Amino acid sequence: MLLLKSIAQVVSLQGPRVPRTGDAMSELGIIENGTILIRGERIVWVGPTRDFPVRKPDARYETLDCVGLDLVALPGFVDGHTHPIFGGTRVEEYDLRCRGKTYQEIAAAGGGIAASVRQLRAASLDQLVERAERYFWHFLSHGTTTIEAKSGYGLNLDDEMKMLQALAGLRGRSRLEVVPTFLGAHDVPAEYRNNRHEYVRQIVEEMIPRVAGEDLAQFCDVFCDDGYFSVEESRTILQAAKQAGLGLRIHADELAHSGGARLAAELNARSADHLEWIDDEDIELLQKAGTVATLLPGTAFNLGIQQYPPARKLIAAGVPVALATDFNPGSCFSLNMQLMLSLACSQMKMTPAEAITAATVNGAYSLGLSERLGSLEEGKQADIVLMDVADYRELPYFFGINHCVVTIKKGNVIINRLEKA
Ligand code: NIG
Ligand code: FE
Repeated sequence: MLLLKSIAQVVSLQGPRVPRTGDAMSELGIIENGTILIRGERIVWVGPTRDFPVRKPDARYETLDCVGLDLVALPGFVDGHTHPIFGGTRVEEYDLRCRGKTYQEIAAAGGGIAASVRQLRAASLDQLVERAERYFWHFLSHGTTTIEAKSGYGLNLDDEMKMLQALAGLRGRSRLEVVPTFLGAHDVPAEYRNNRHEYVRQIVEEMIPRVAGEDLAQFCDVFCDDGYFSVEESRTILQAAKQAGLGLRIHADELAHSGGARLAAELNARSADHLEWIDDEDIELLQKAGTVATLLPGTAFNLGIQQYPPARKLIAAGVPVALATDFNPGSCFSLNMQLMLSLACSQMKMTPAEAITAATVNGAYSLGLSERLGSLEEGKQADIVLMDVADYRELPYFFGINHCVVTIKKGNVIINRLEKA
């Protein structure tokens, strides 16, 4: 048993196991001076320290006494959109963008996703696992305990499988929990640019059955946007995925208002992601479908564009909003959810409370995991992070440094930077 005692603020996010929408996104269930008791993988008690039951004489607790330390406890972040498997960085593209080239110009000149595809195909499974393992440690050390992770830099059966196998292999090497997503429709590979129909056929008839058959992915995603996959192509792919038993997610309306969000609503996708160019009508459709809007403010920030998704309109309309990093070597090379909180607040005008809800419980819901993850309540999995701040609002406010001092995954303390444990 592990006892976390006298935590200045416990951000419990207790509440119904449904996505948090509208005003409910502001209800953090804060316990001032709180205590949490963990048995095995689960939280068995959480509440004000003064209400903690007197210990039975034979009960043995390992105790992390936080009295006087001014720490905030919250559920580990659930980052519902990442691309963490890749063969190398694209730092030269970053340099070019700093000189004024756009993401689209670089992609048109053979960079972008195509550059990552070349690197990925050249890398061995072991190399991919080793590189990702380093990033997985950084996720954990910045307070993220669960991620969704996409394939999408292989763009043929073997290399897409290699990416998903790398994710499966990482299970034995990192405590970070991973929900894998098949993203064969990230781009049309160079060899099929003049025969895209054939590539879509391969995804539908060859890749999806293999991936689903070998249980290598839980979701299927499509980059539905101008210059990538059309609404019709995306529909064909996602319908096949649904039939194969995969959940659906869509990269939607990132580059243009191109119909991805509308398609997400039509197909009852679990999540529509990006949404920089979504309009009011499509916001209504997402709300009716109950689809989560996963917003990725790191992308606009990193690309240096002003078009952030309309978070306030989405929240006002009652769409469940989640926040994620989009960690990838091209458009957003950050895996720090604390930074996403800052960007959500300063650039999209979310409140700190809404941003934390979006980064935890709603992220968990977007992955279908809110029964087990996303809040600090009796019975939930003990995925808990301690942040070295006295008030949860300092997480976005005091930006650019890592506040995470303790990471607990499934009841195990895997990172502890406190002086005494
Ligand atoms: O989410 N939009 C598509 N995919 C990524 C970019 C991937 C890349 O550039 O490698 C994104 O922004
Ligand atoms: Fe993405």
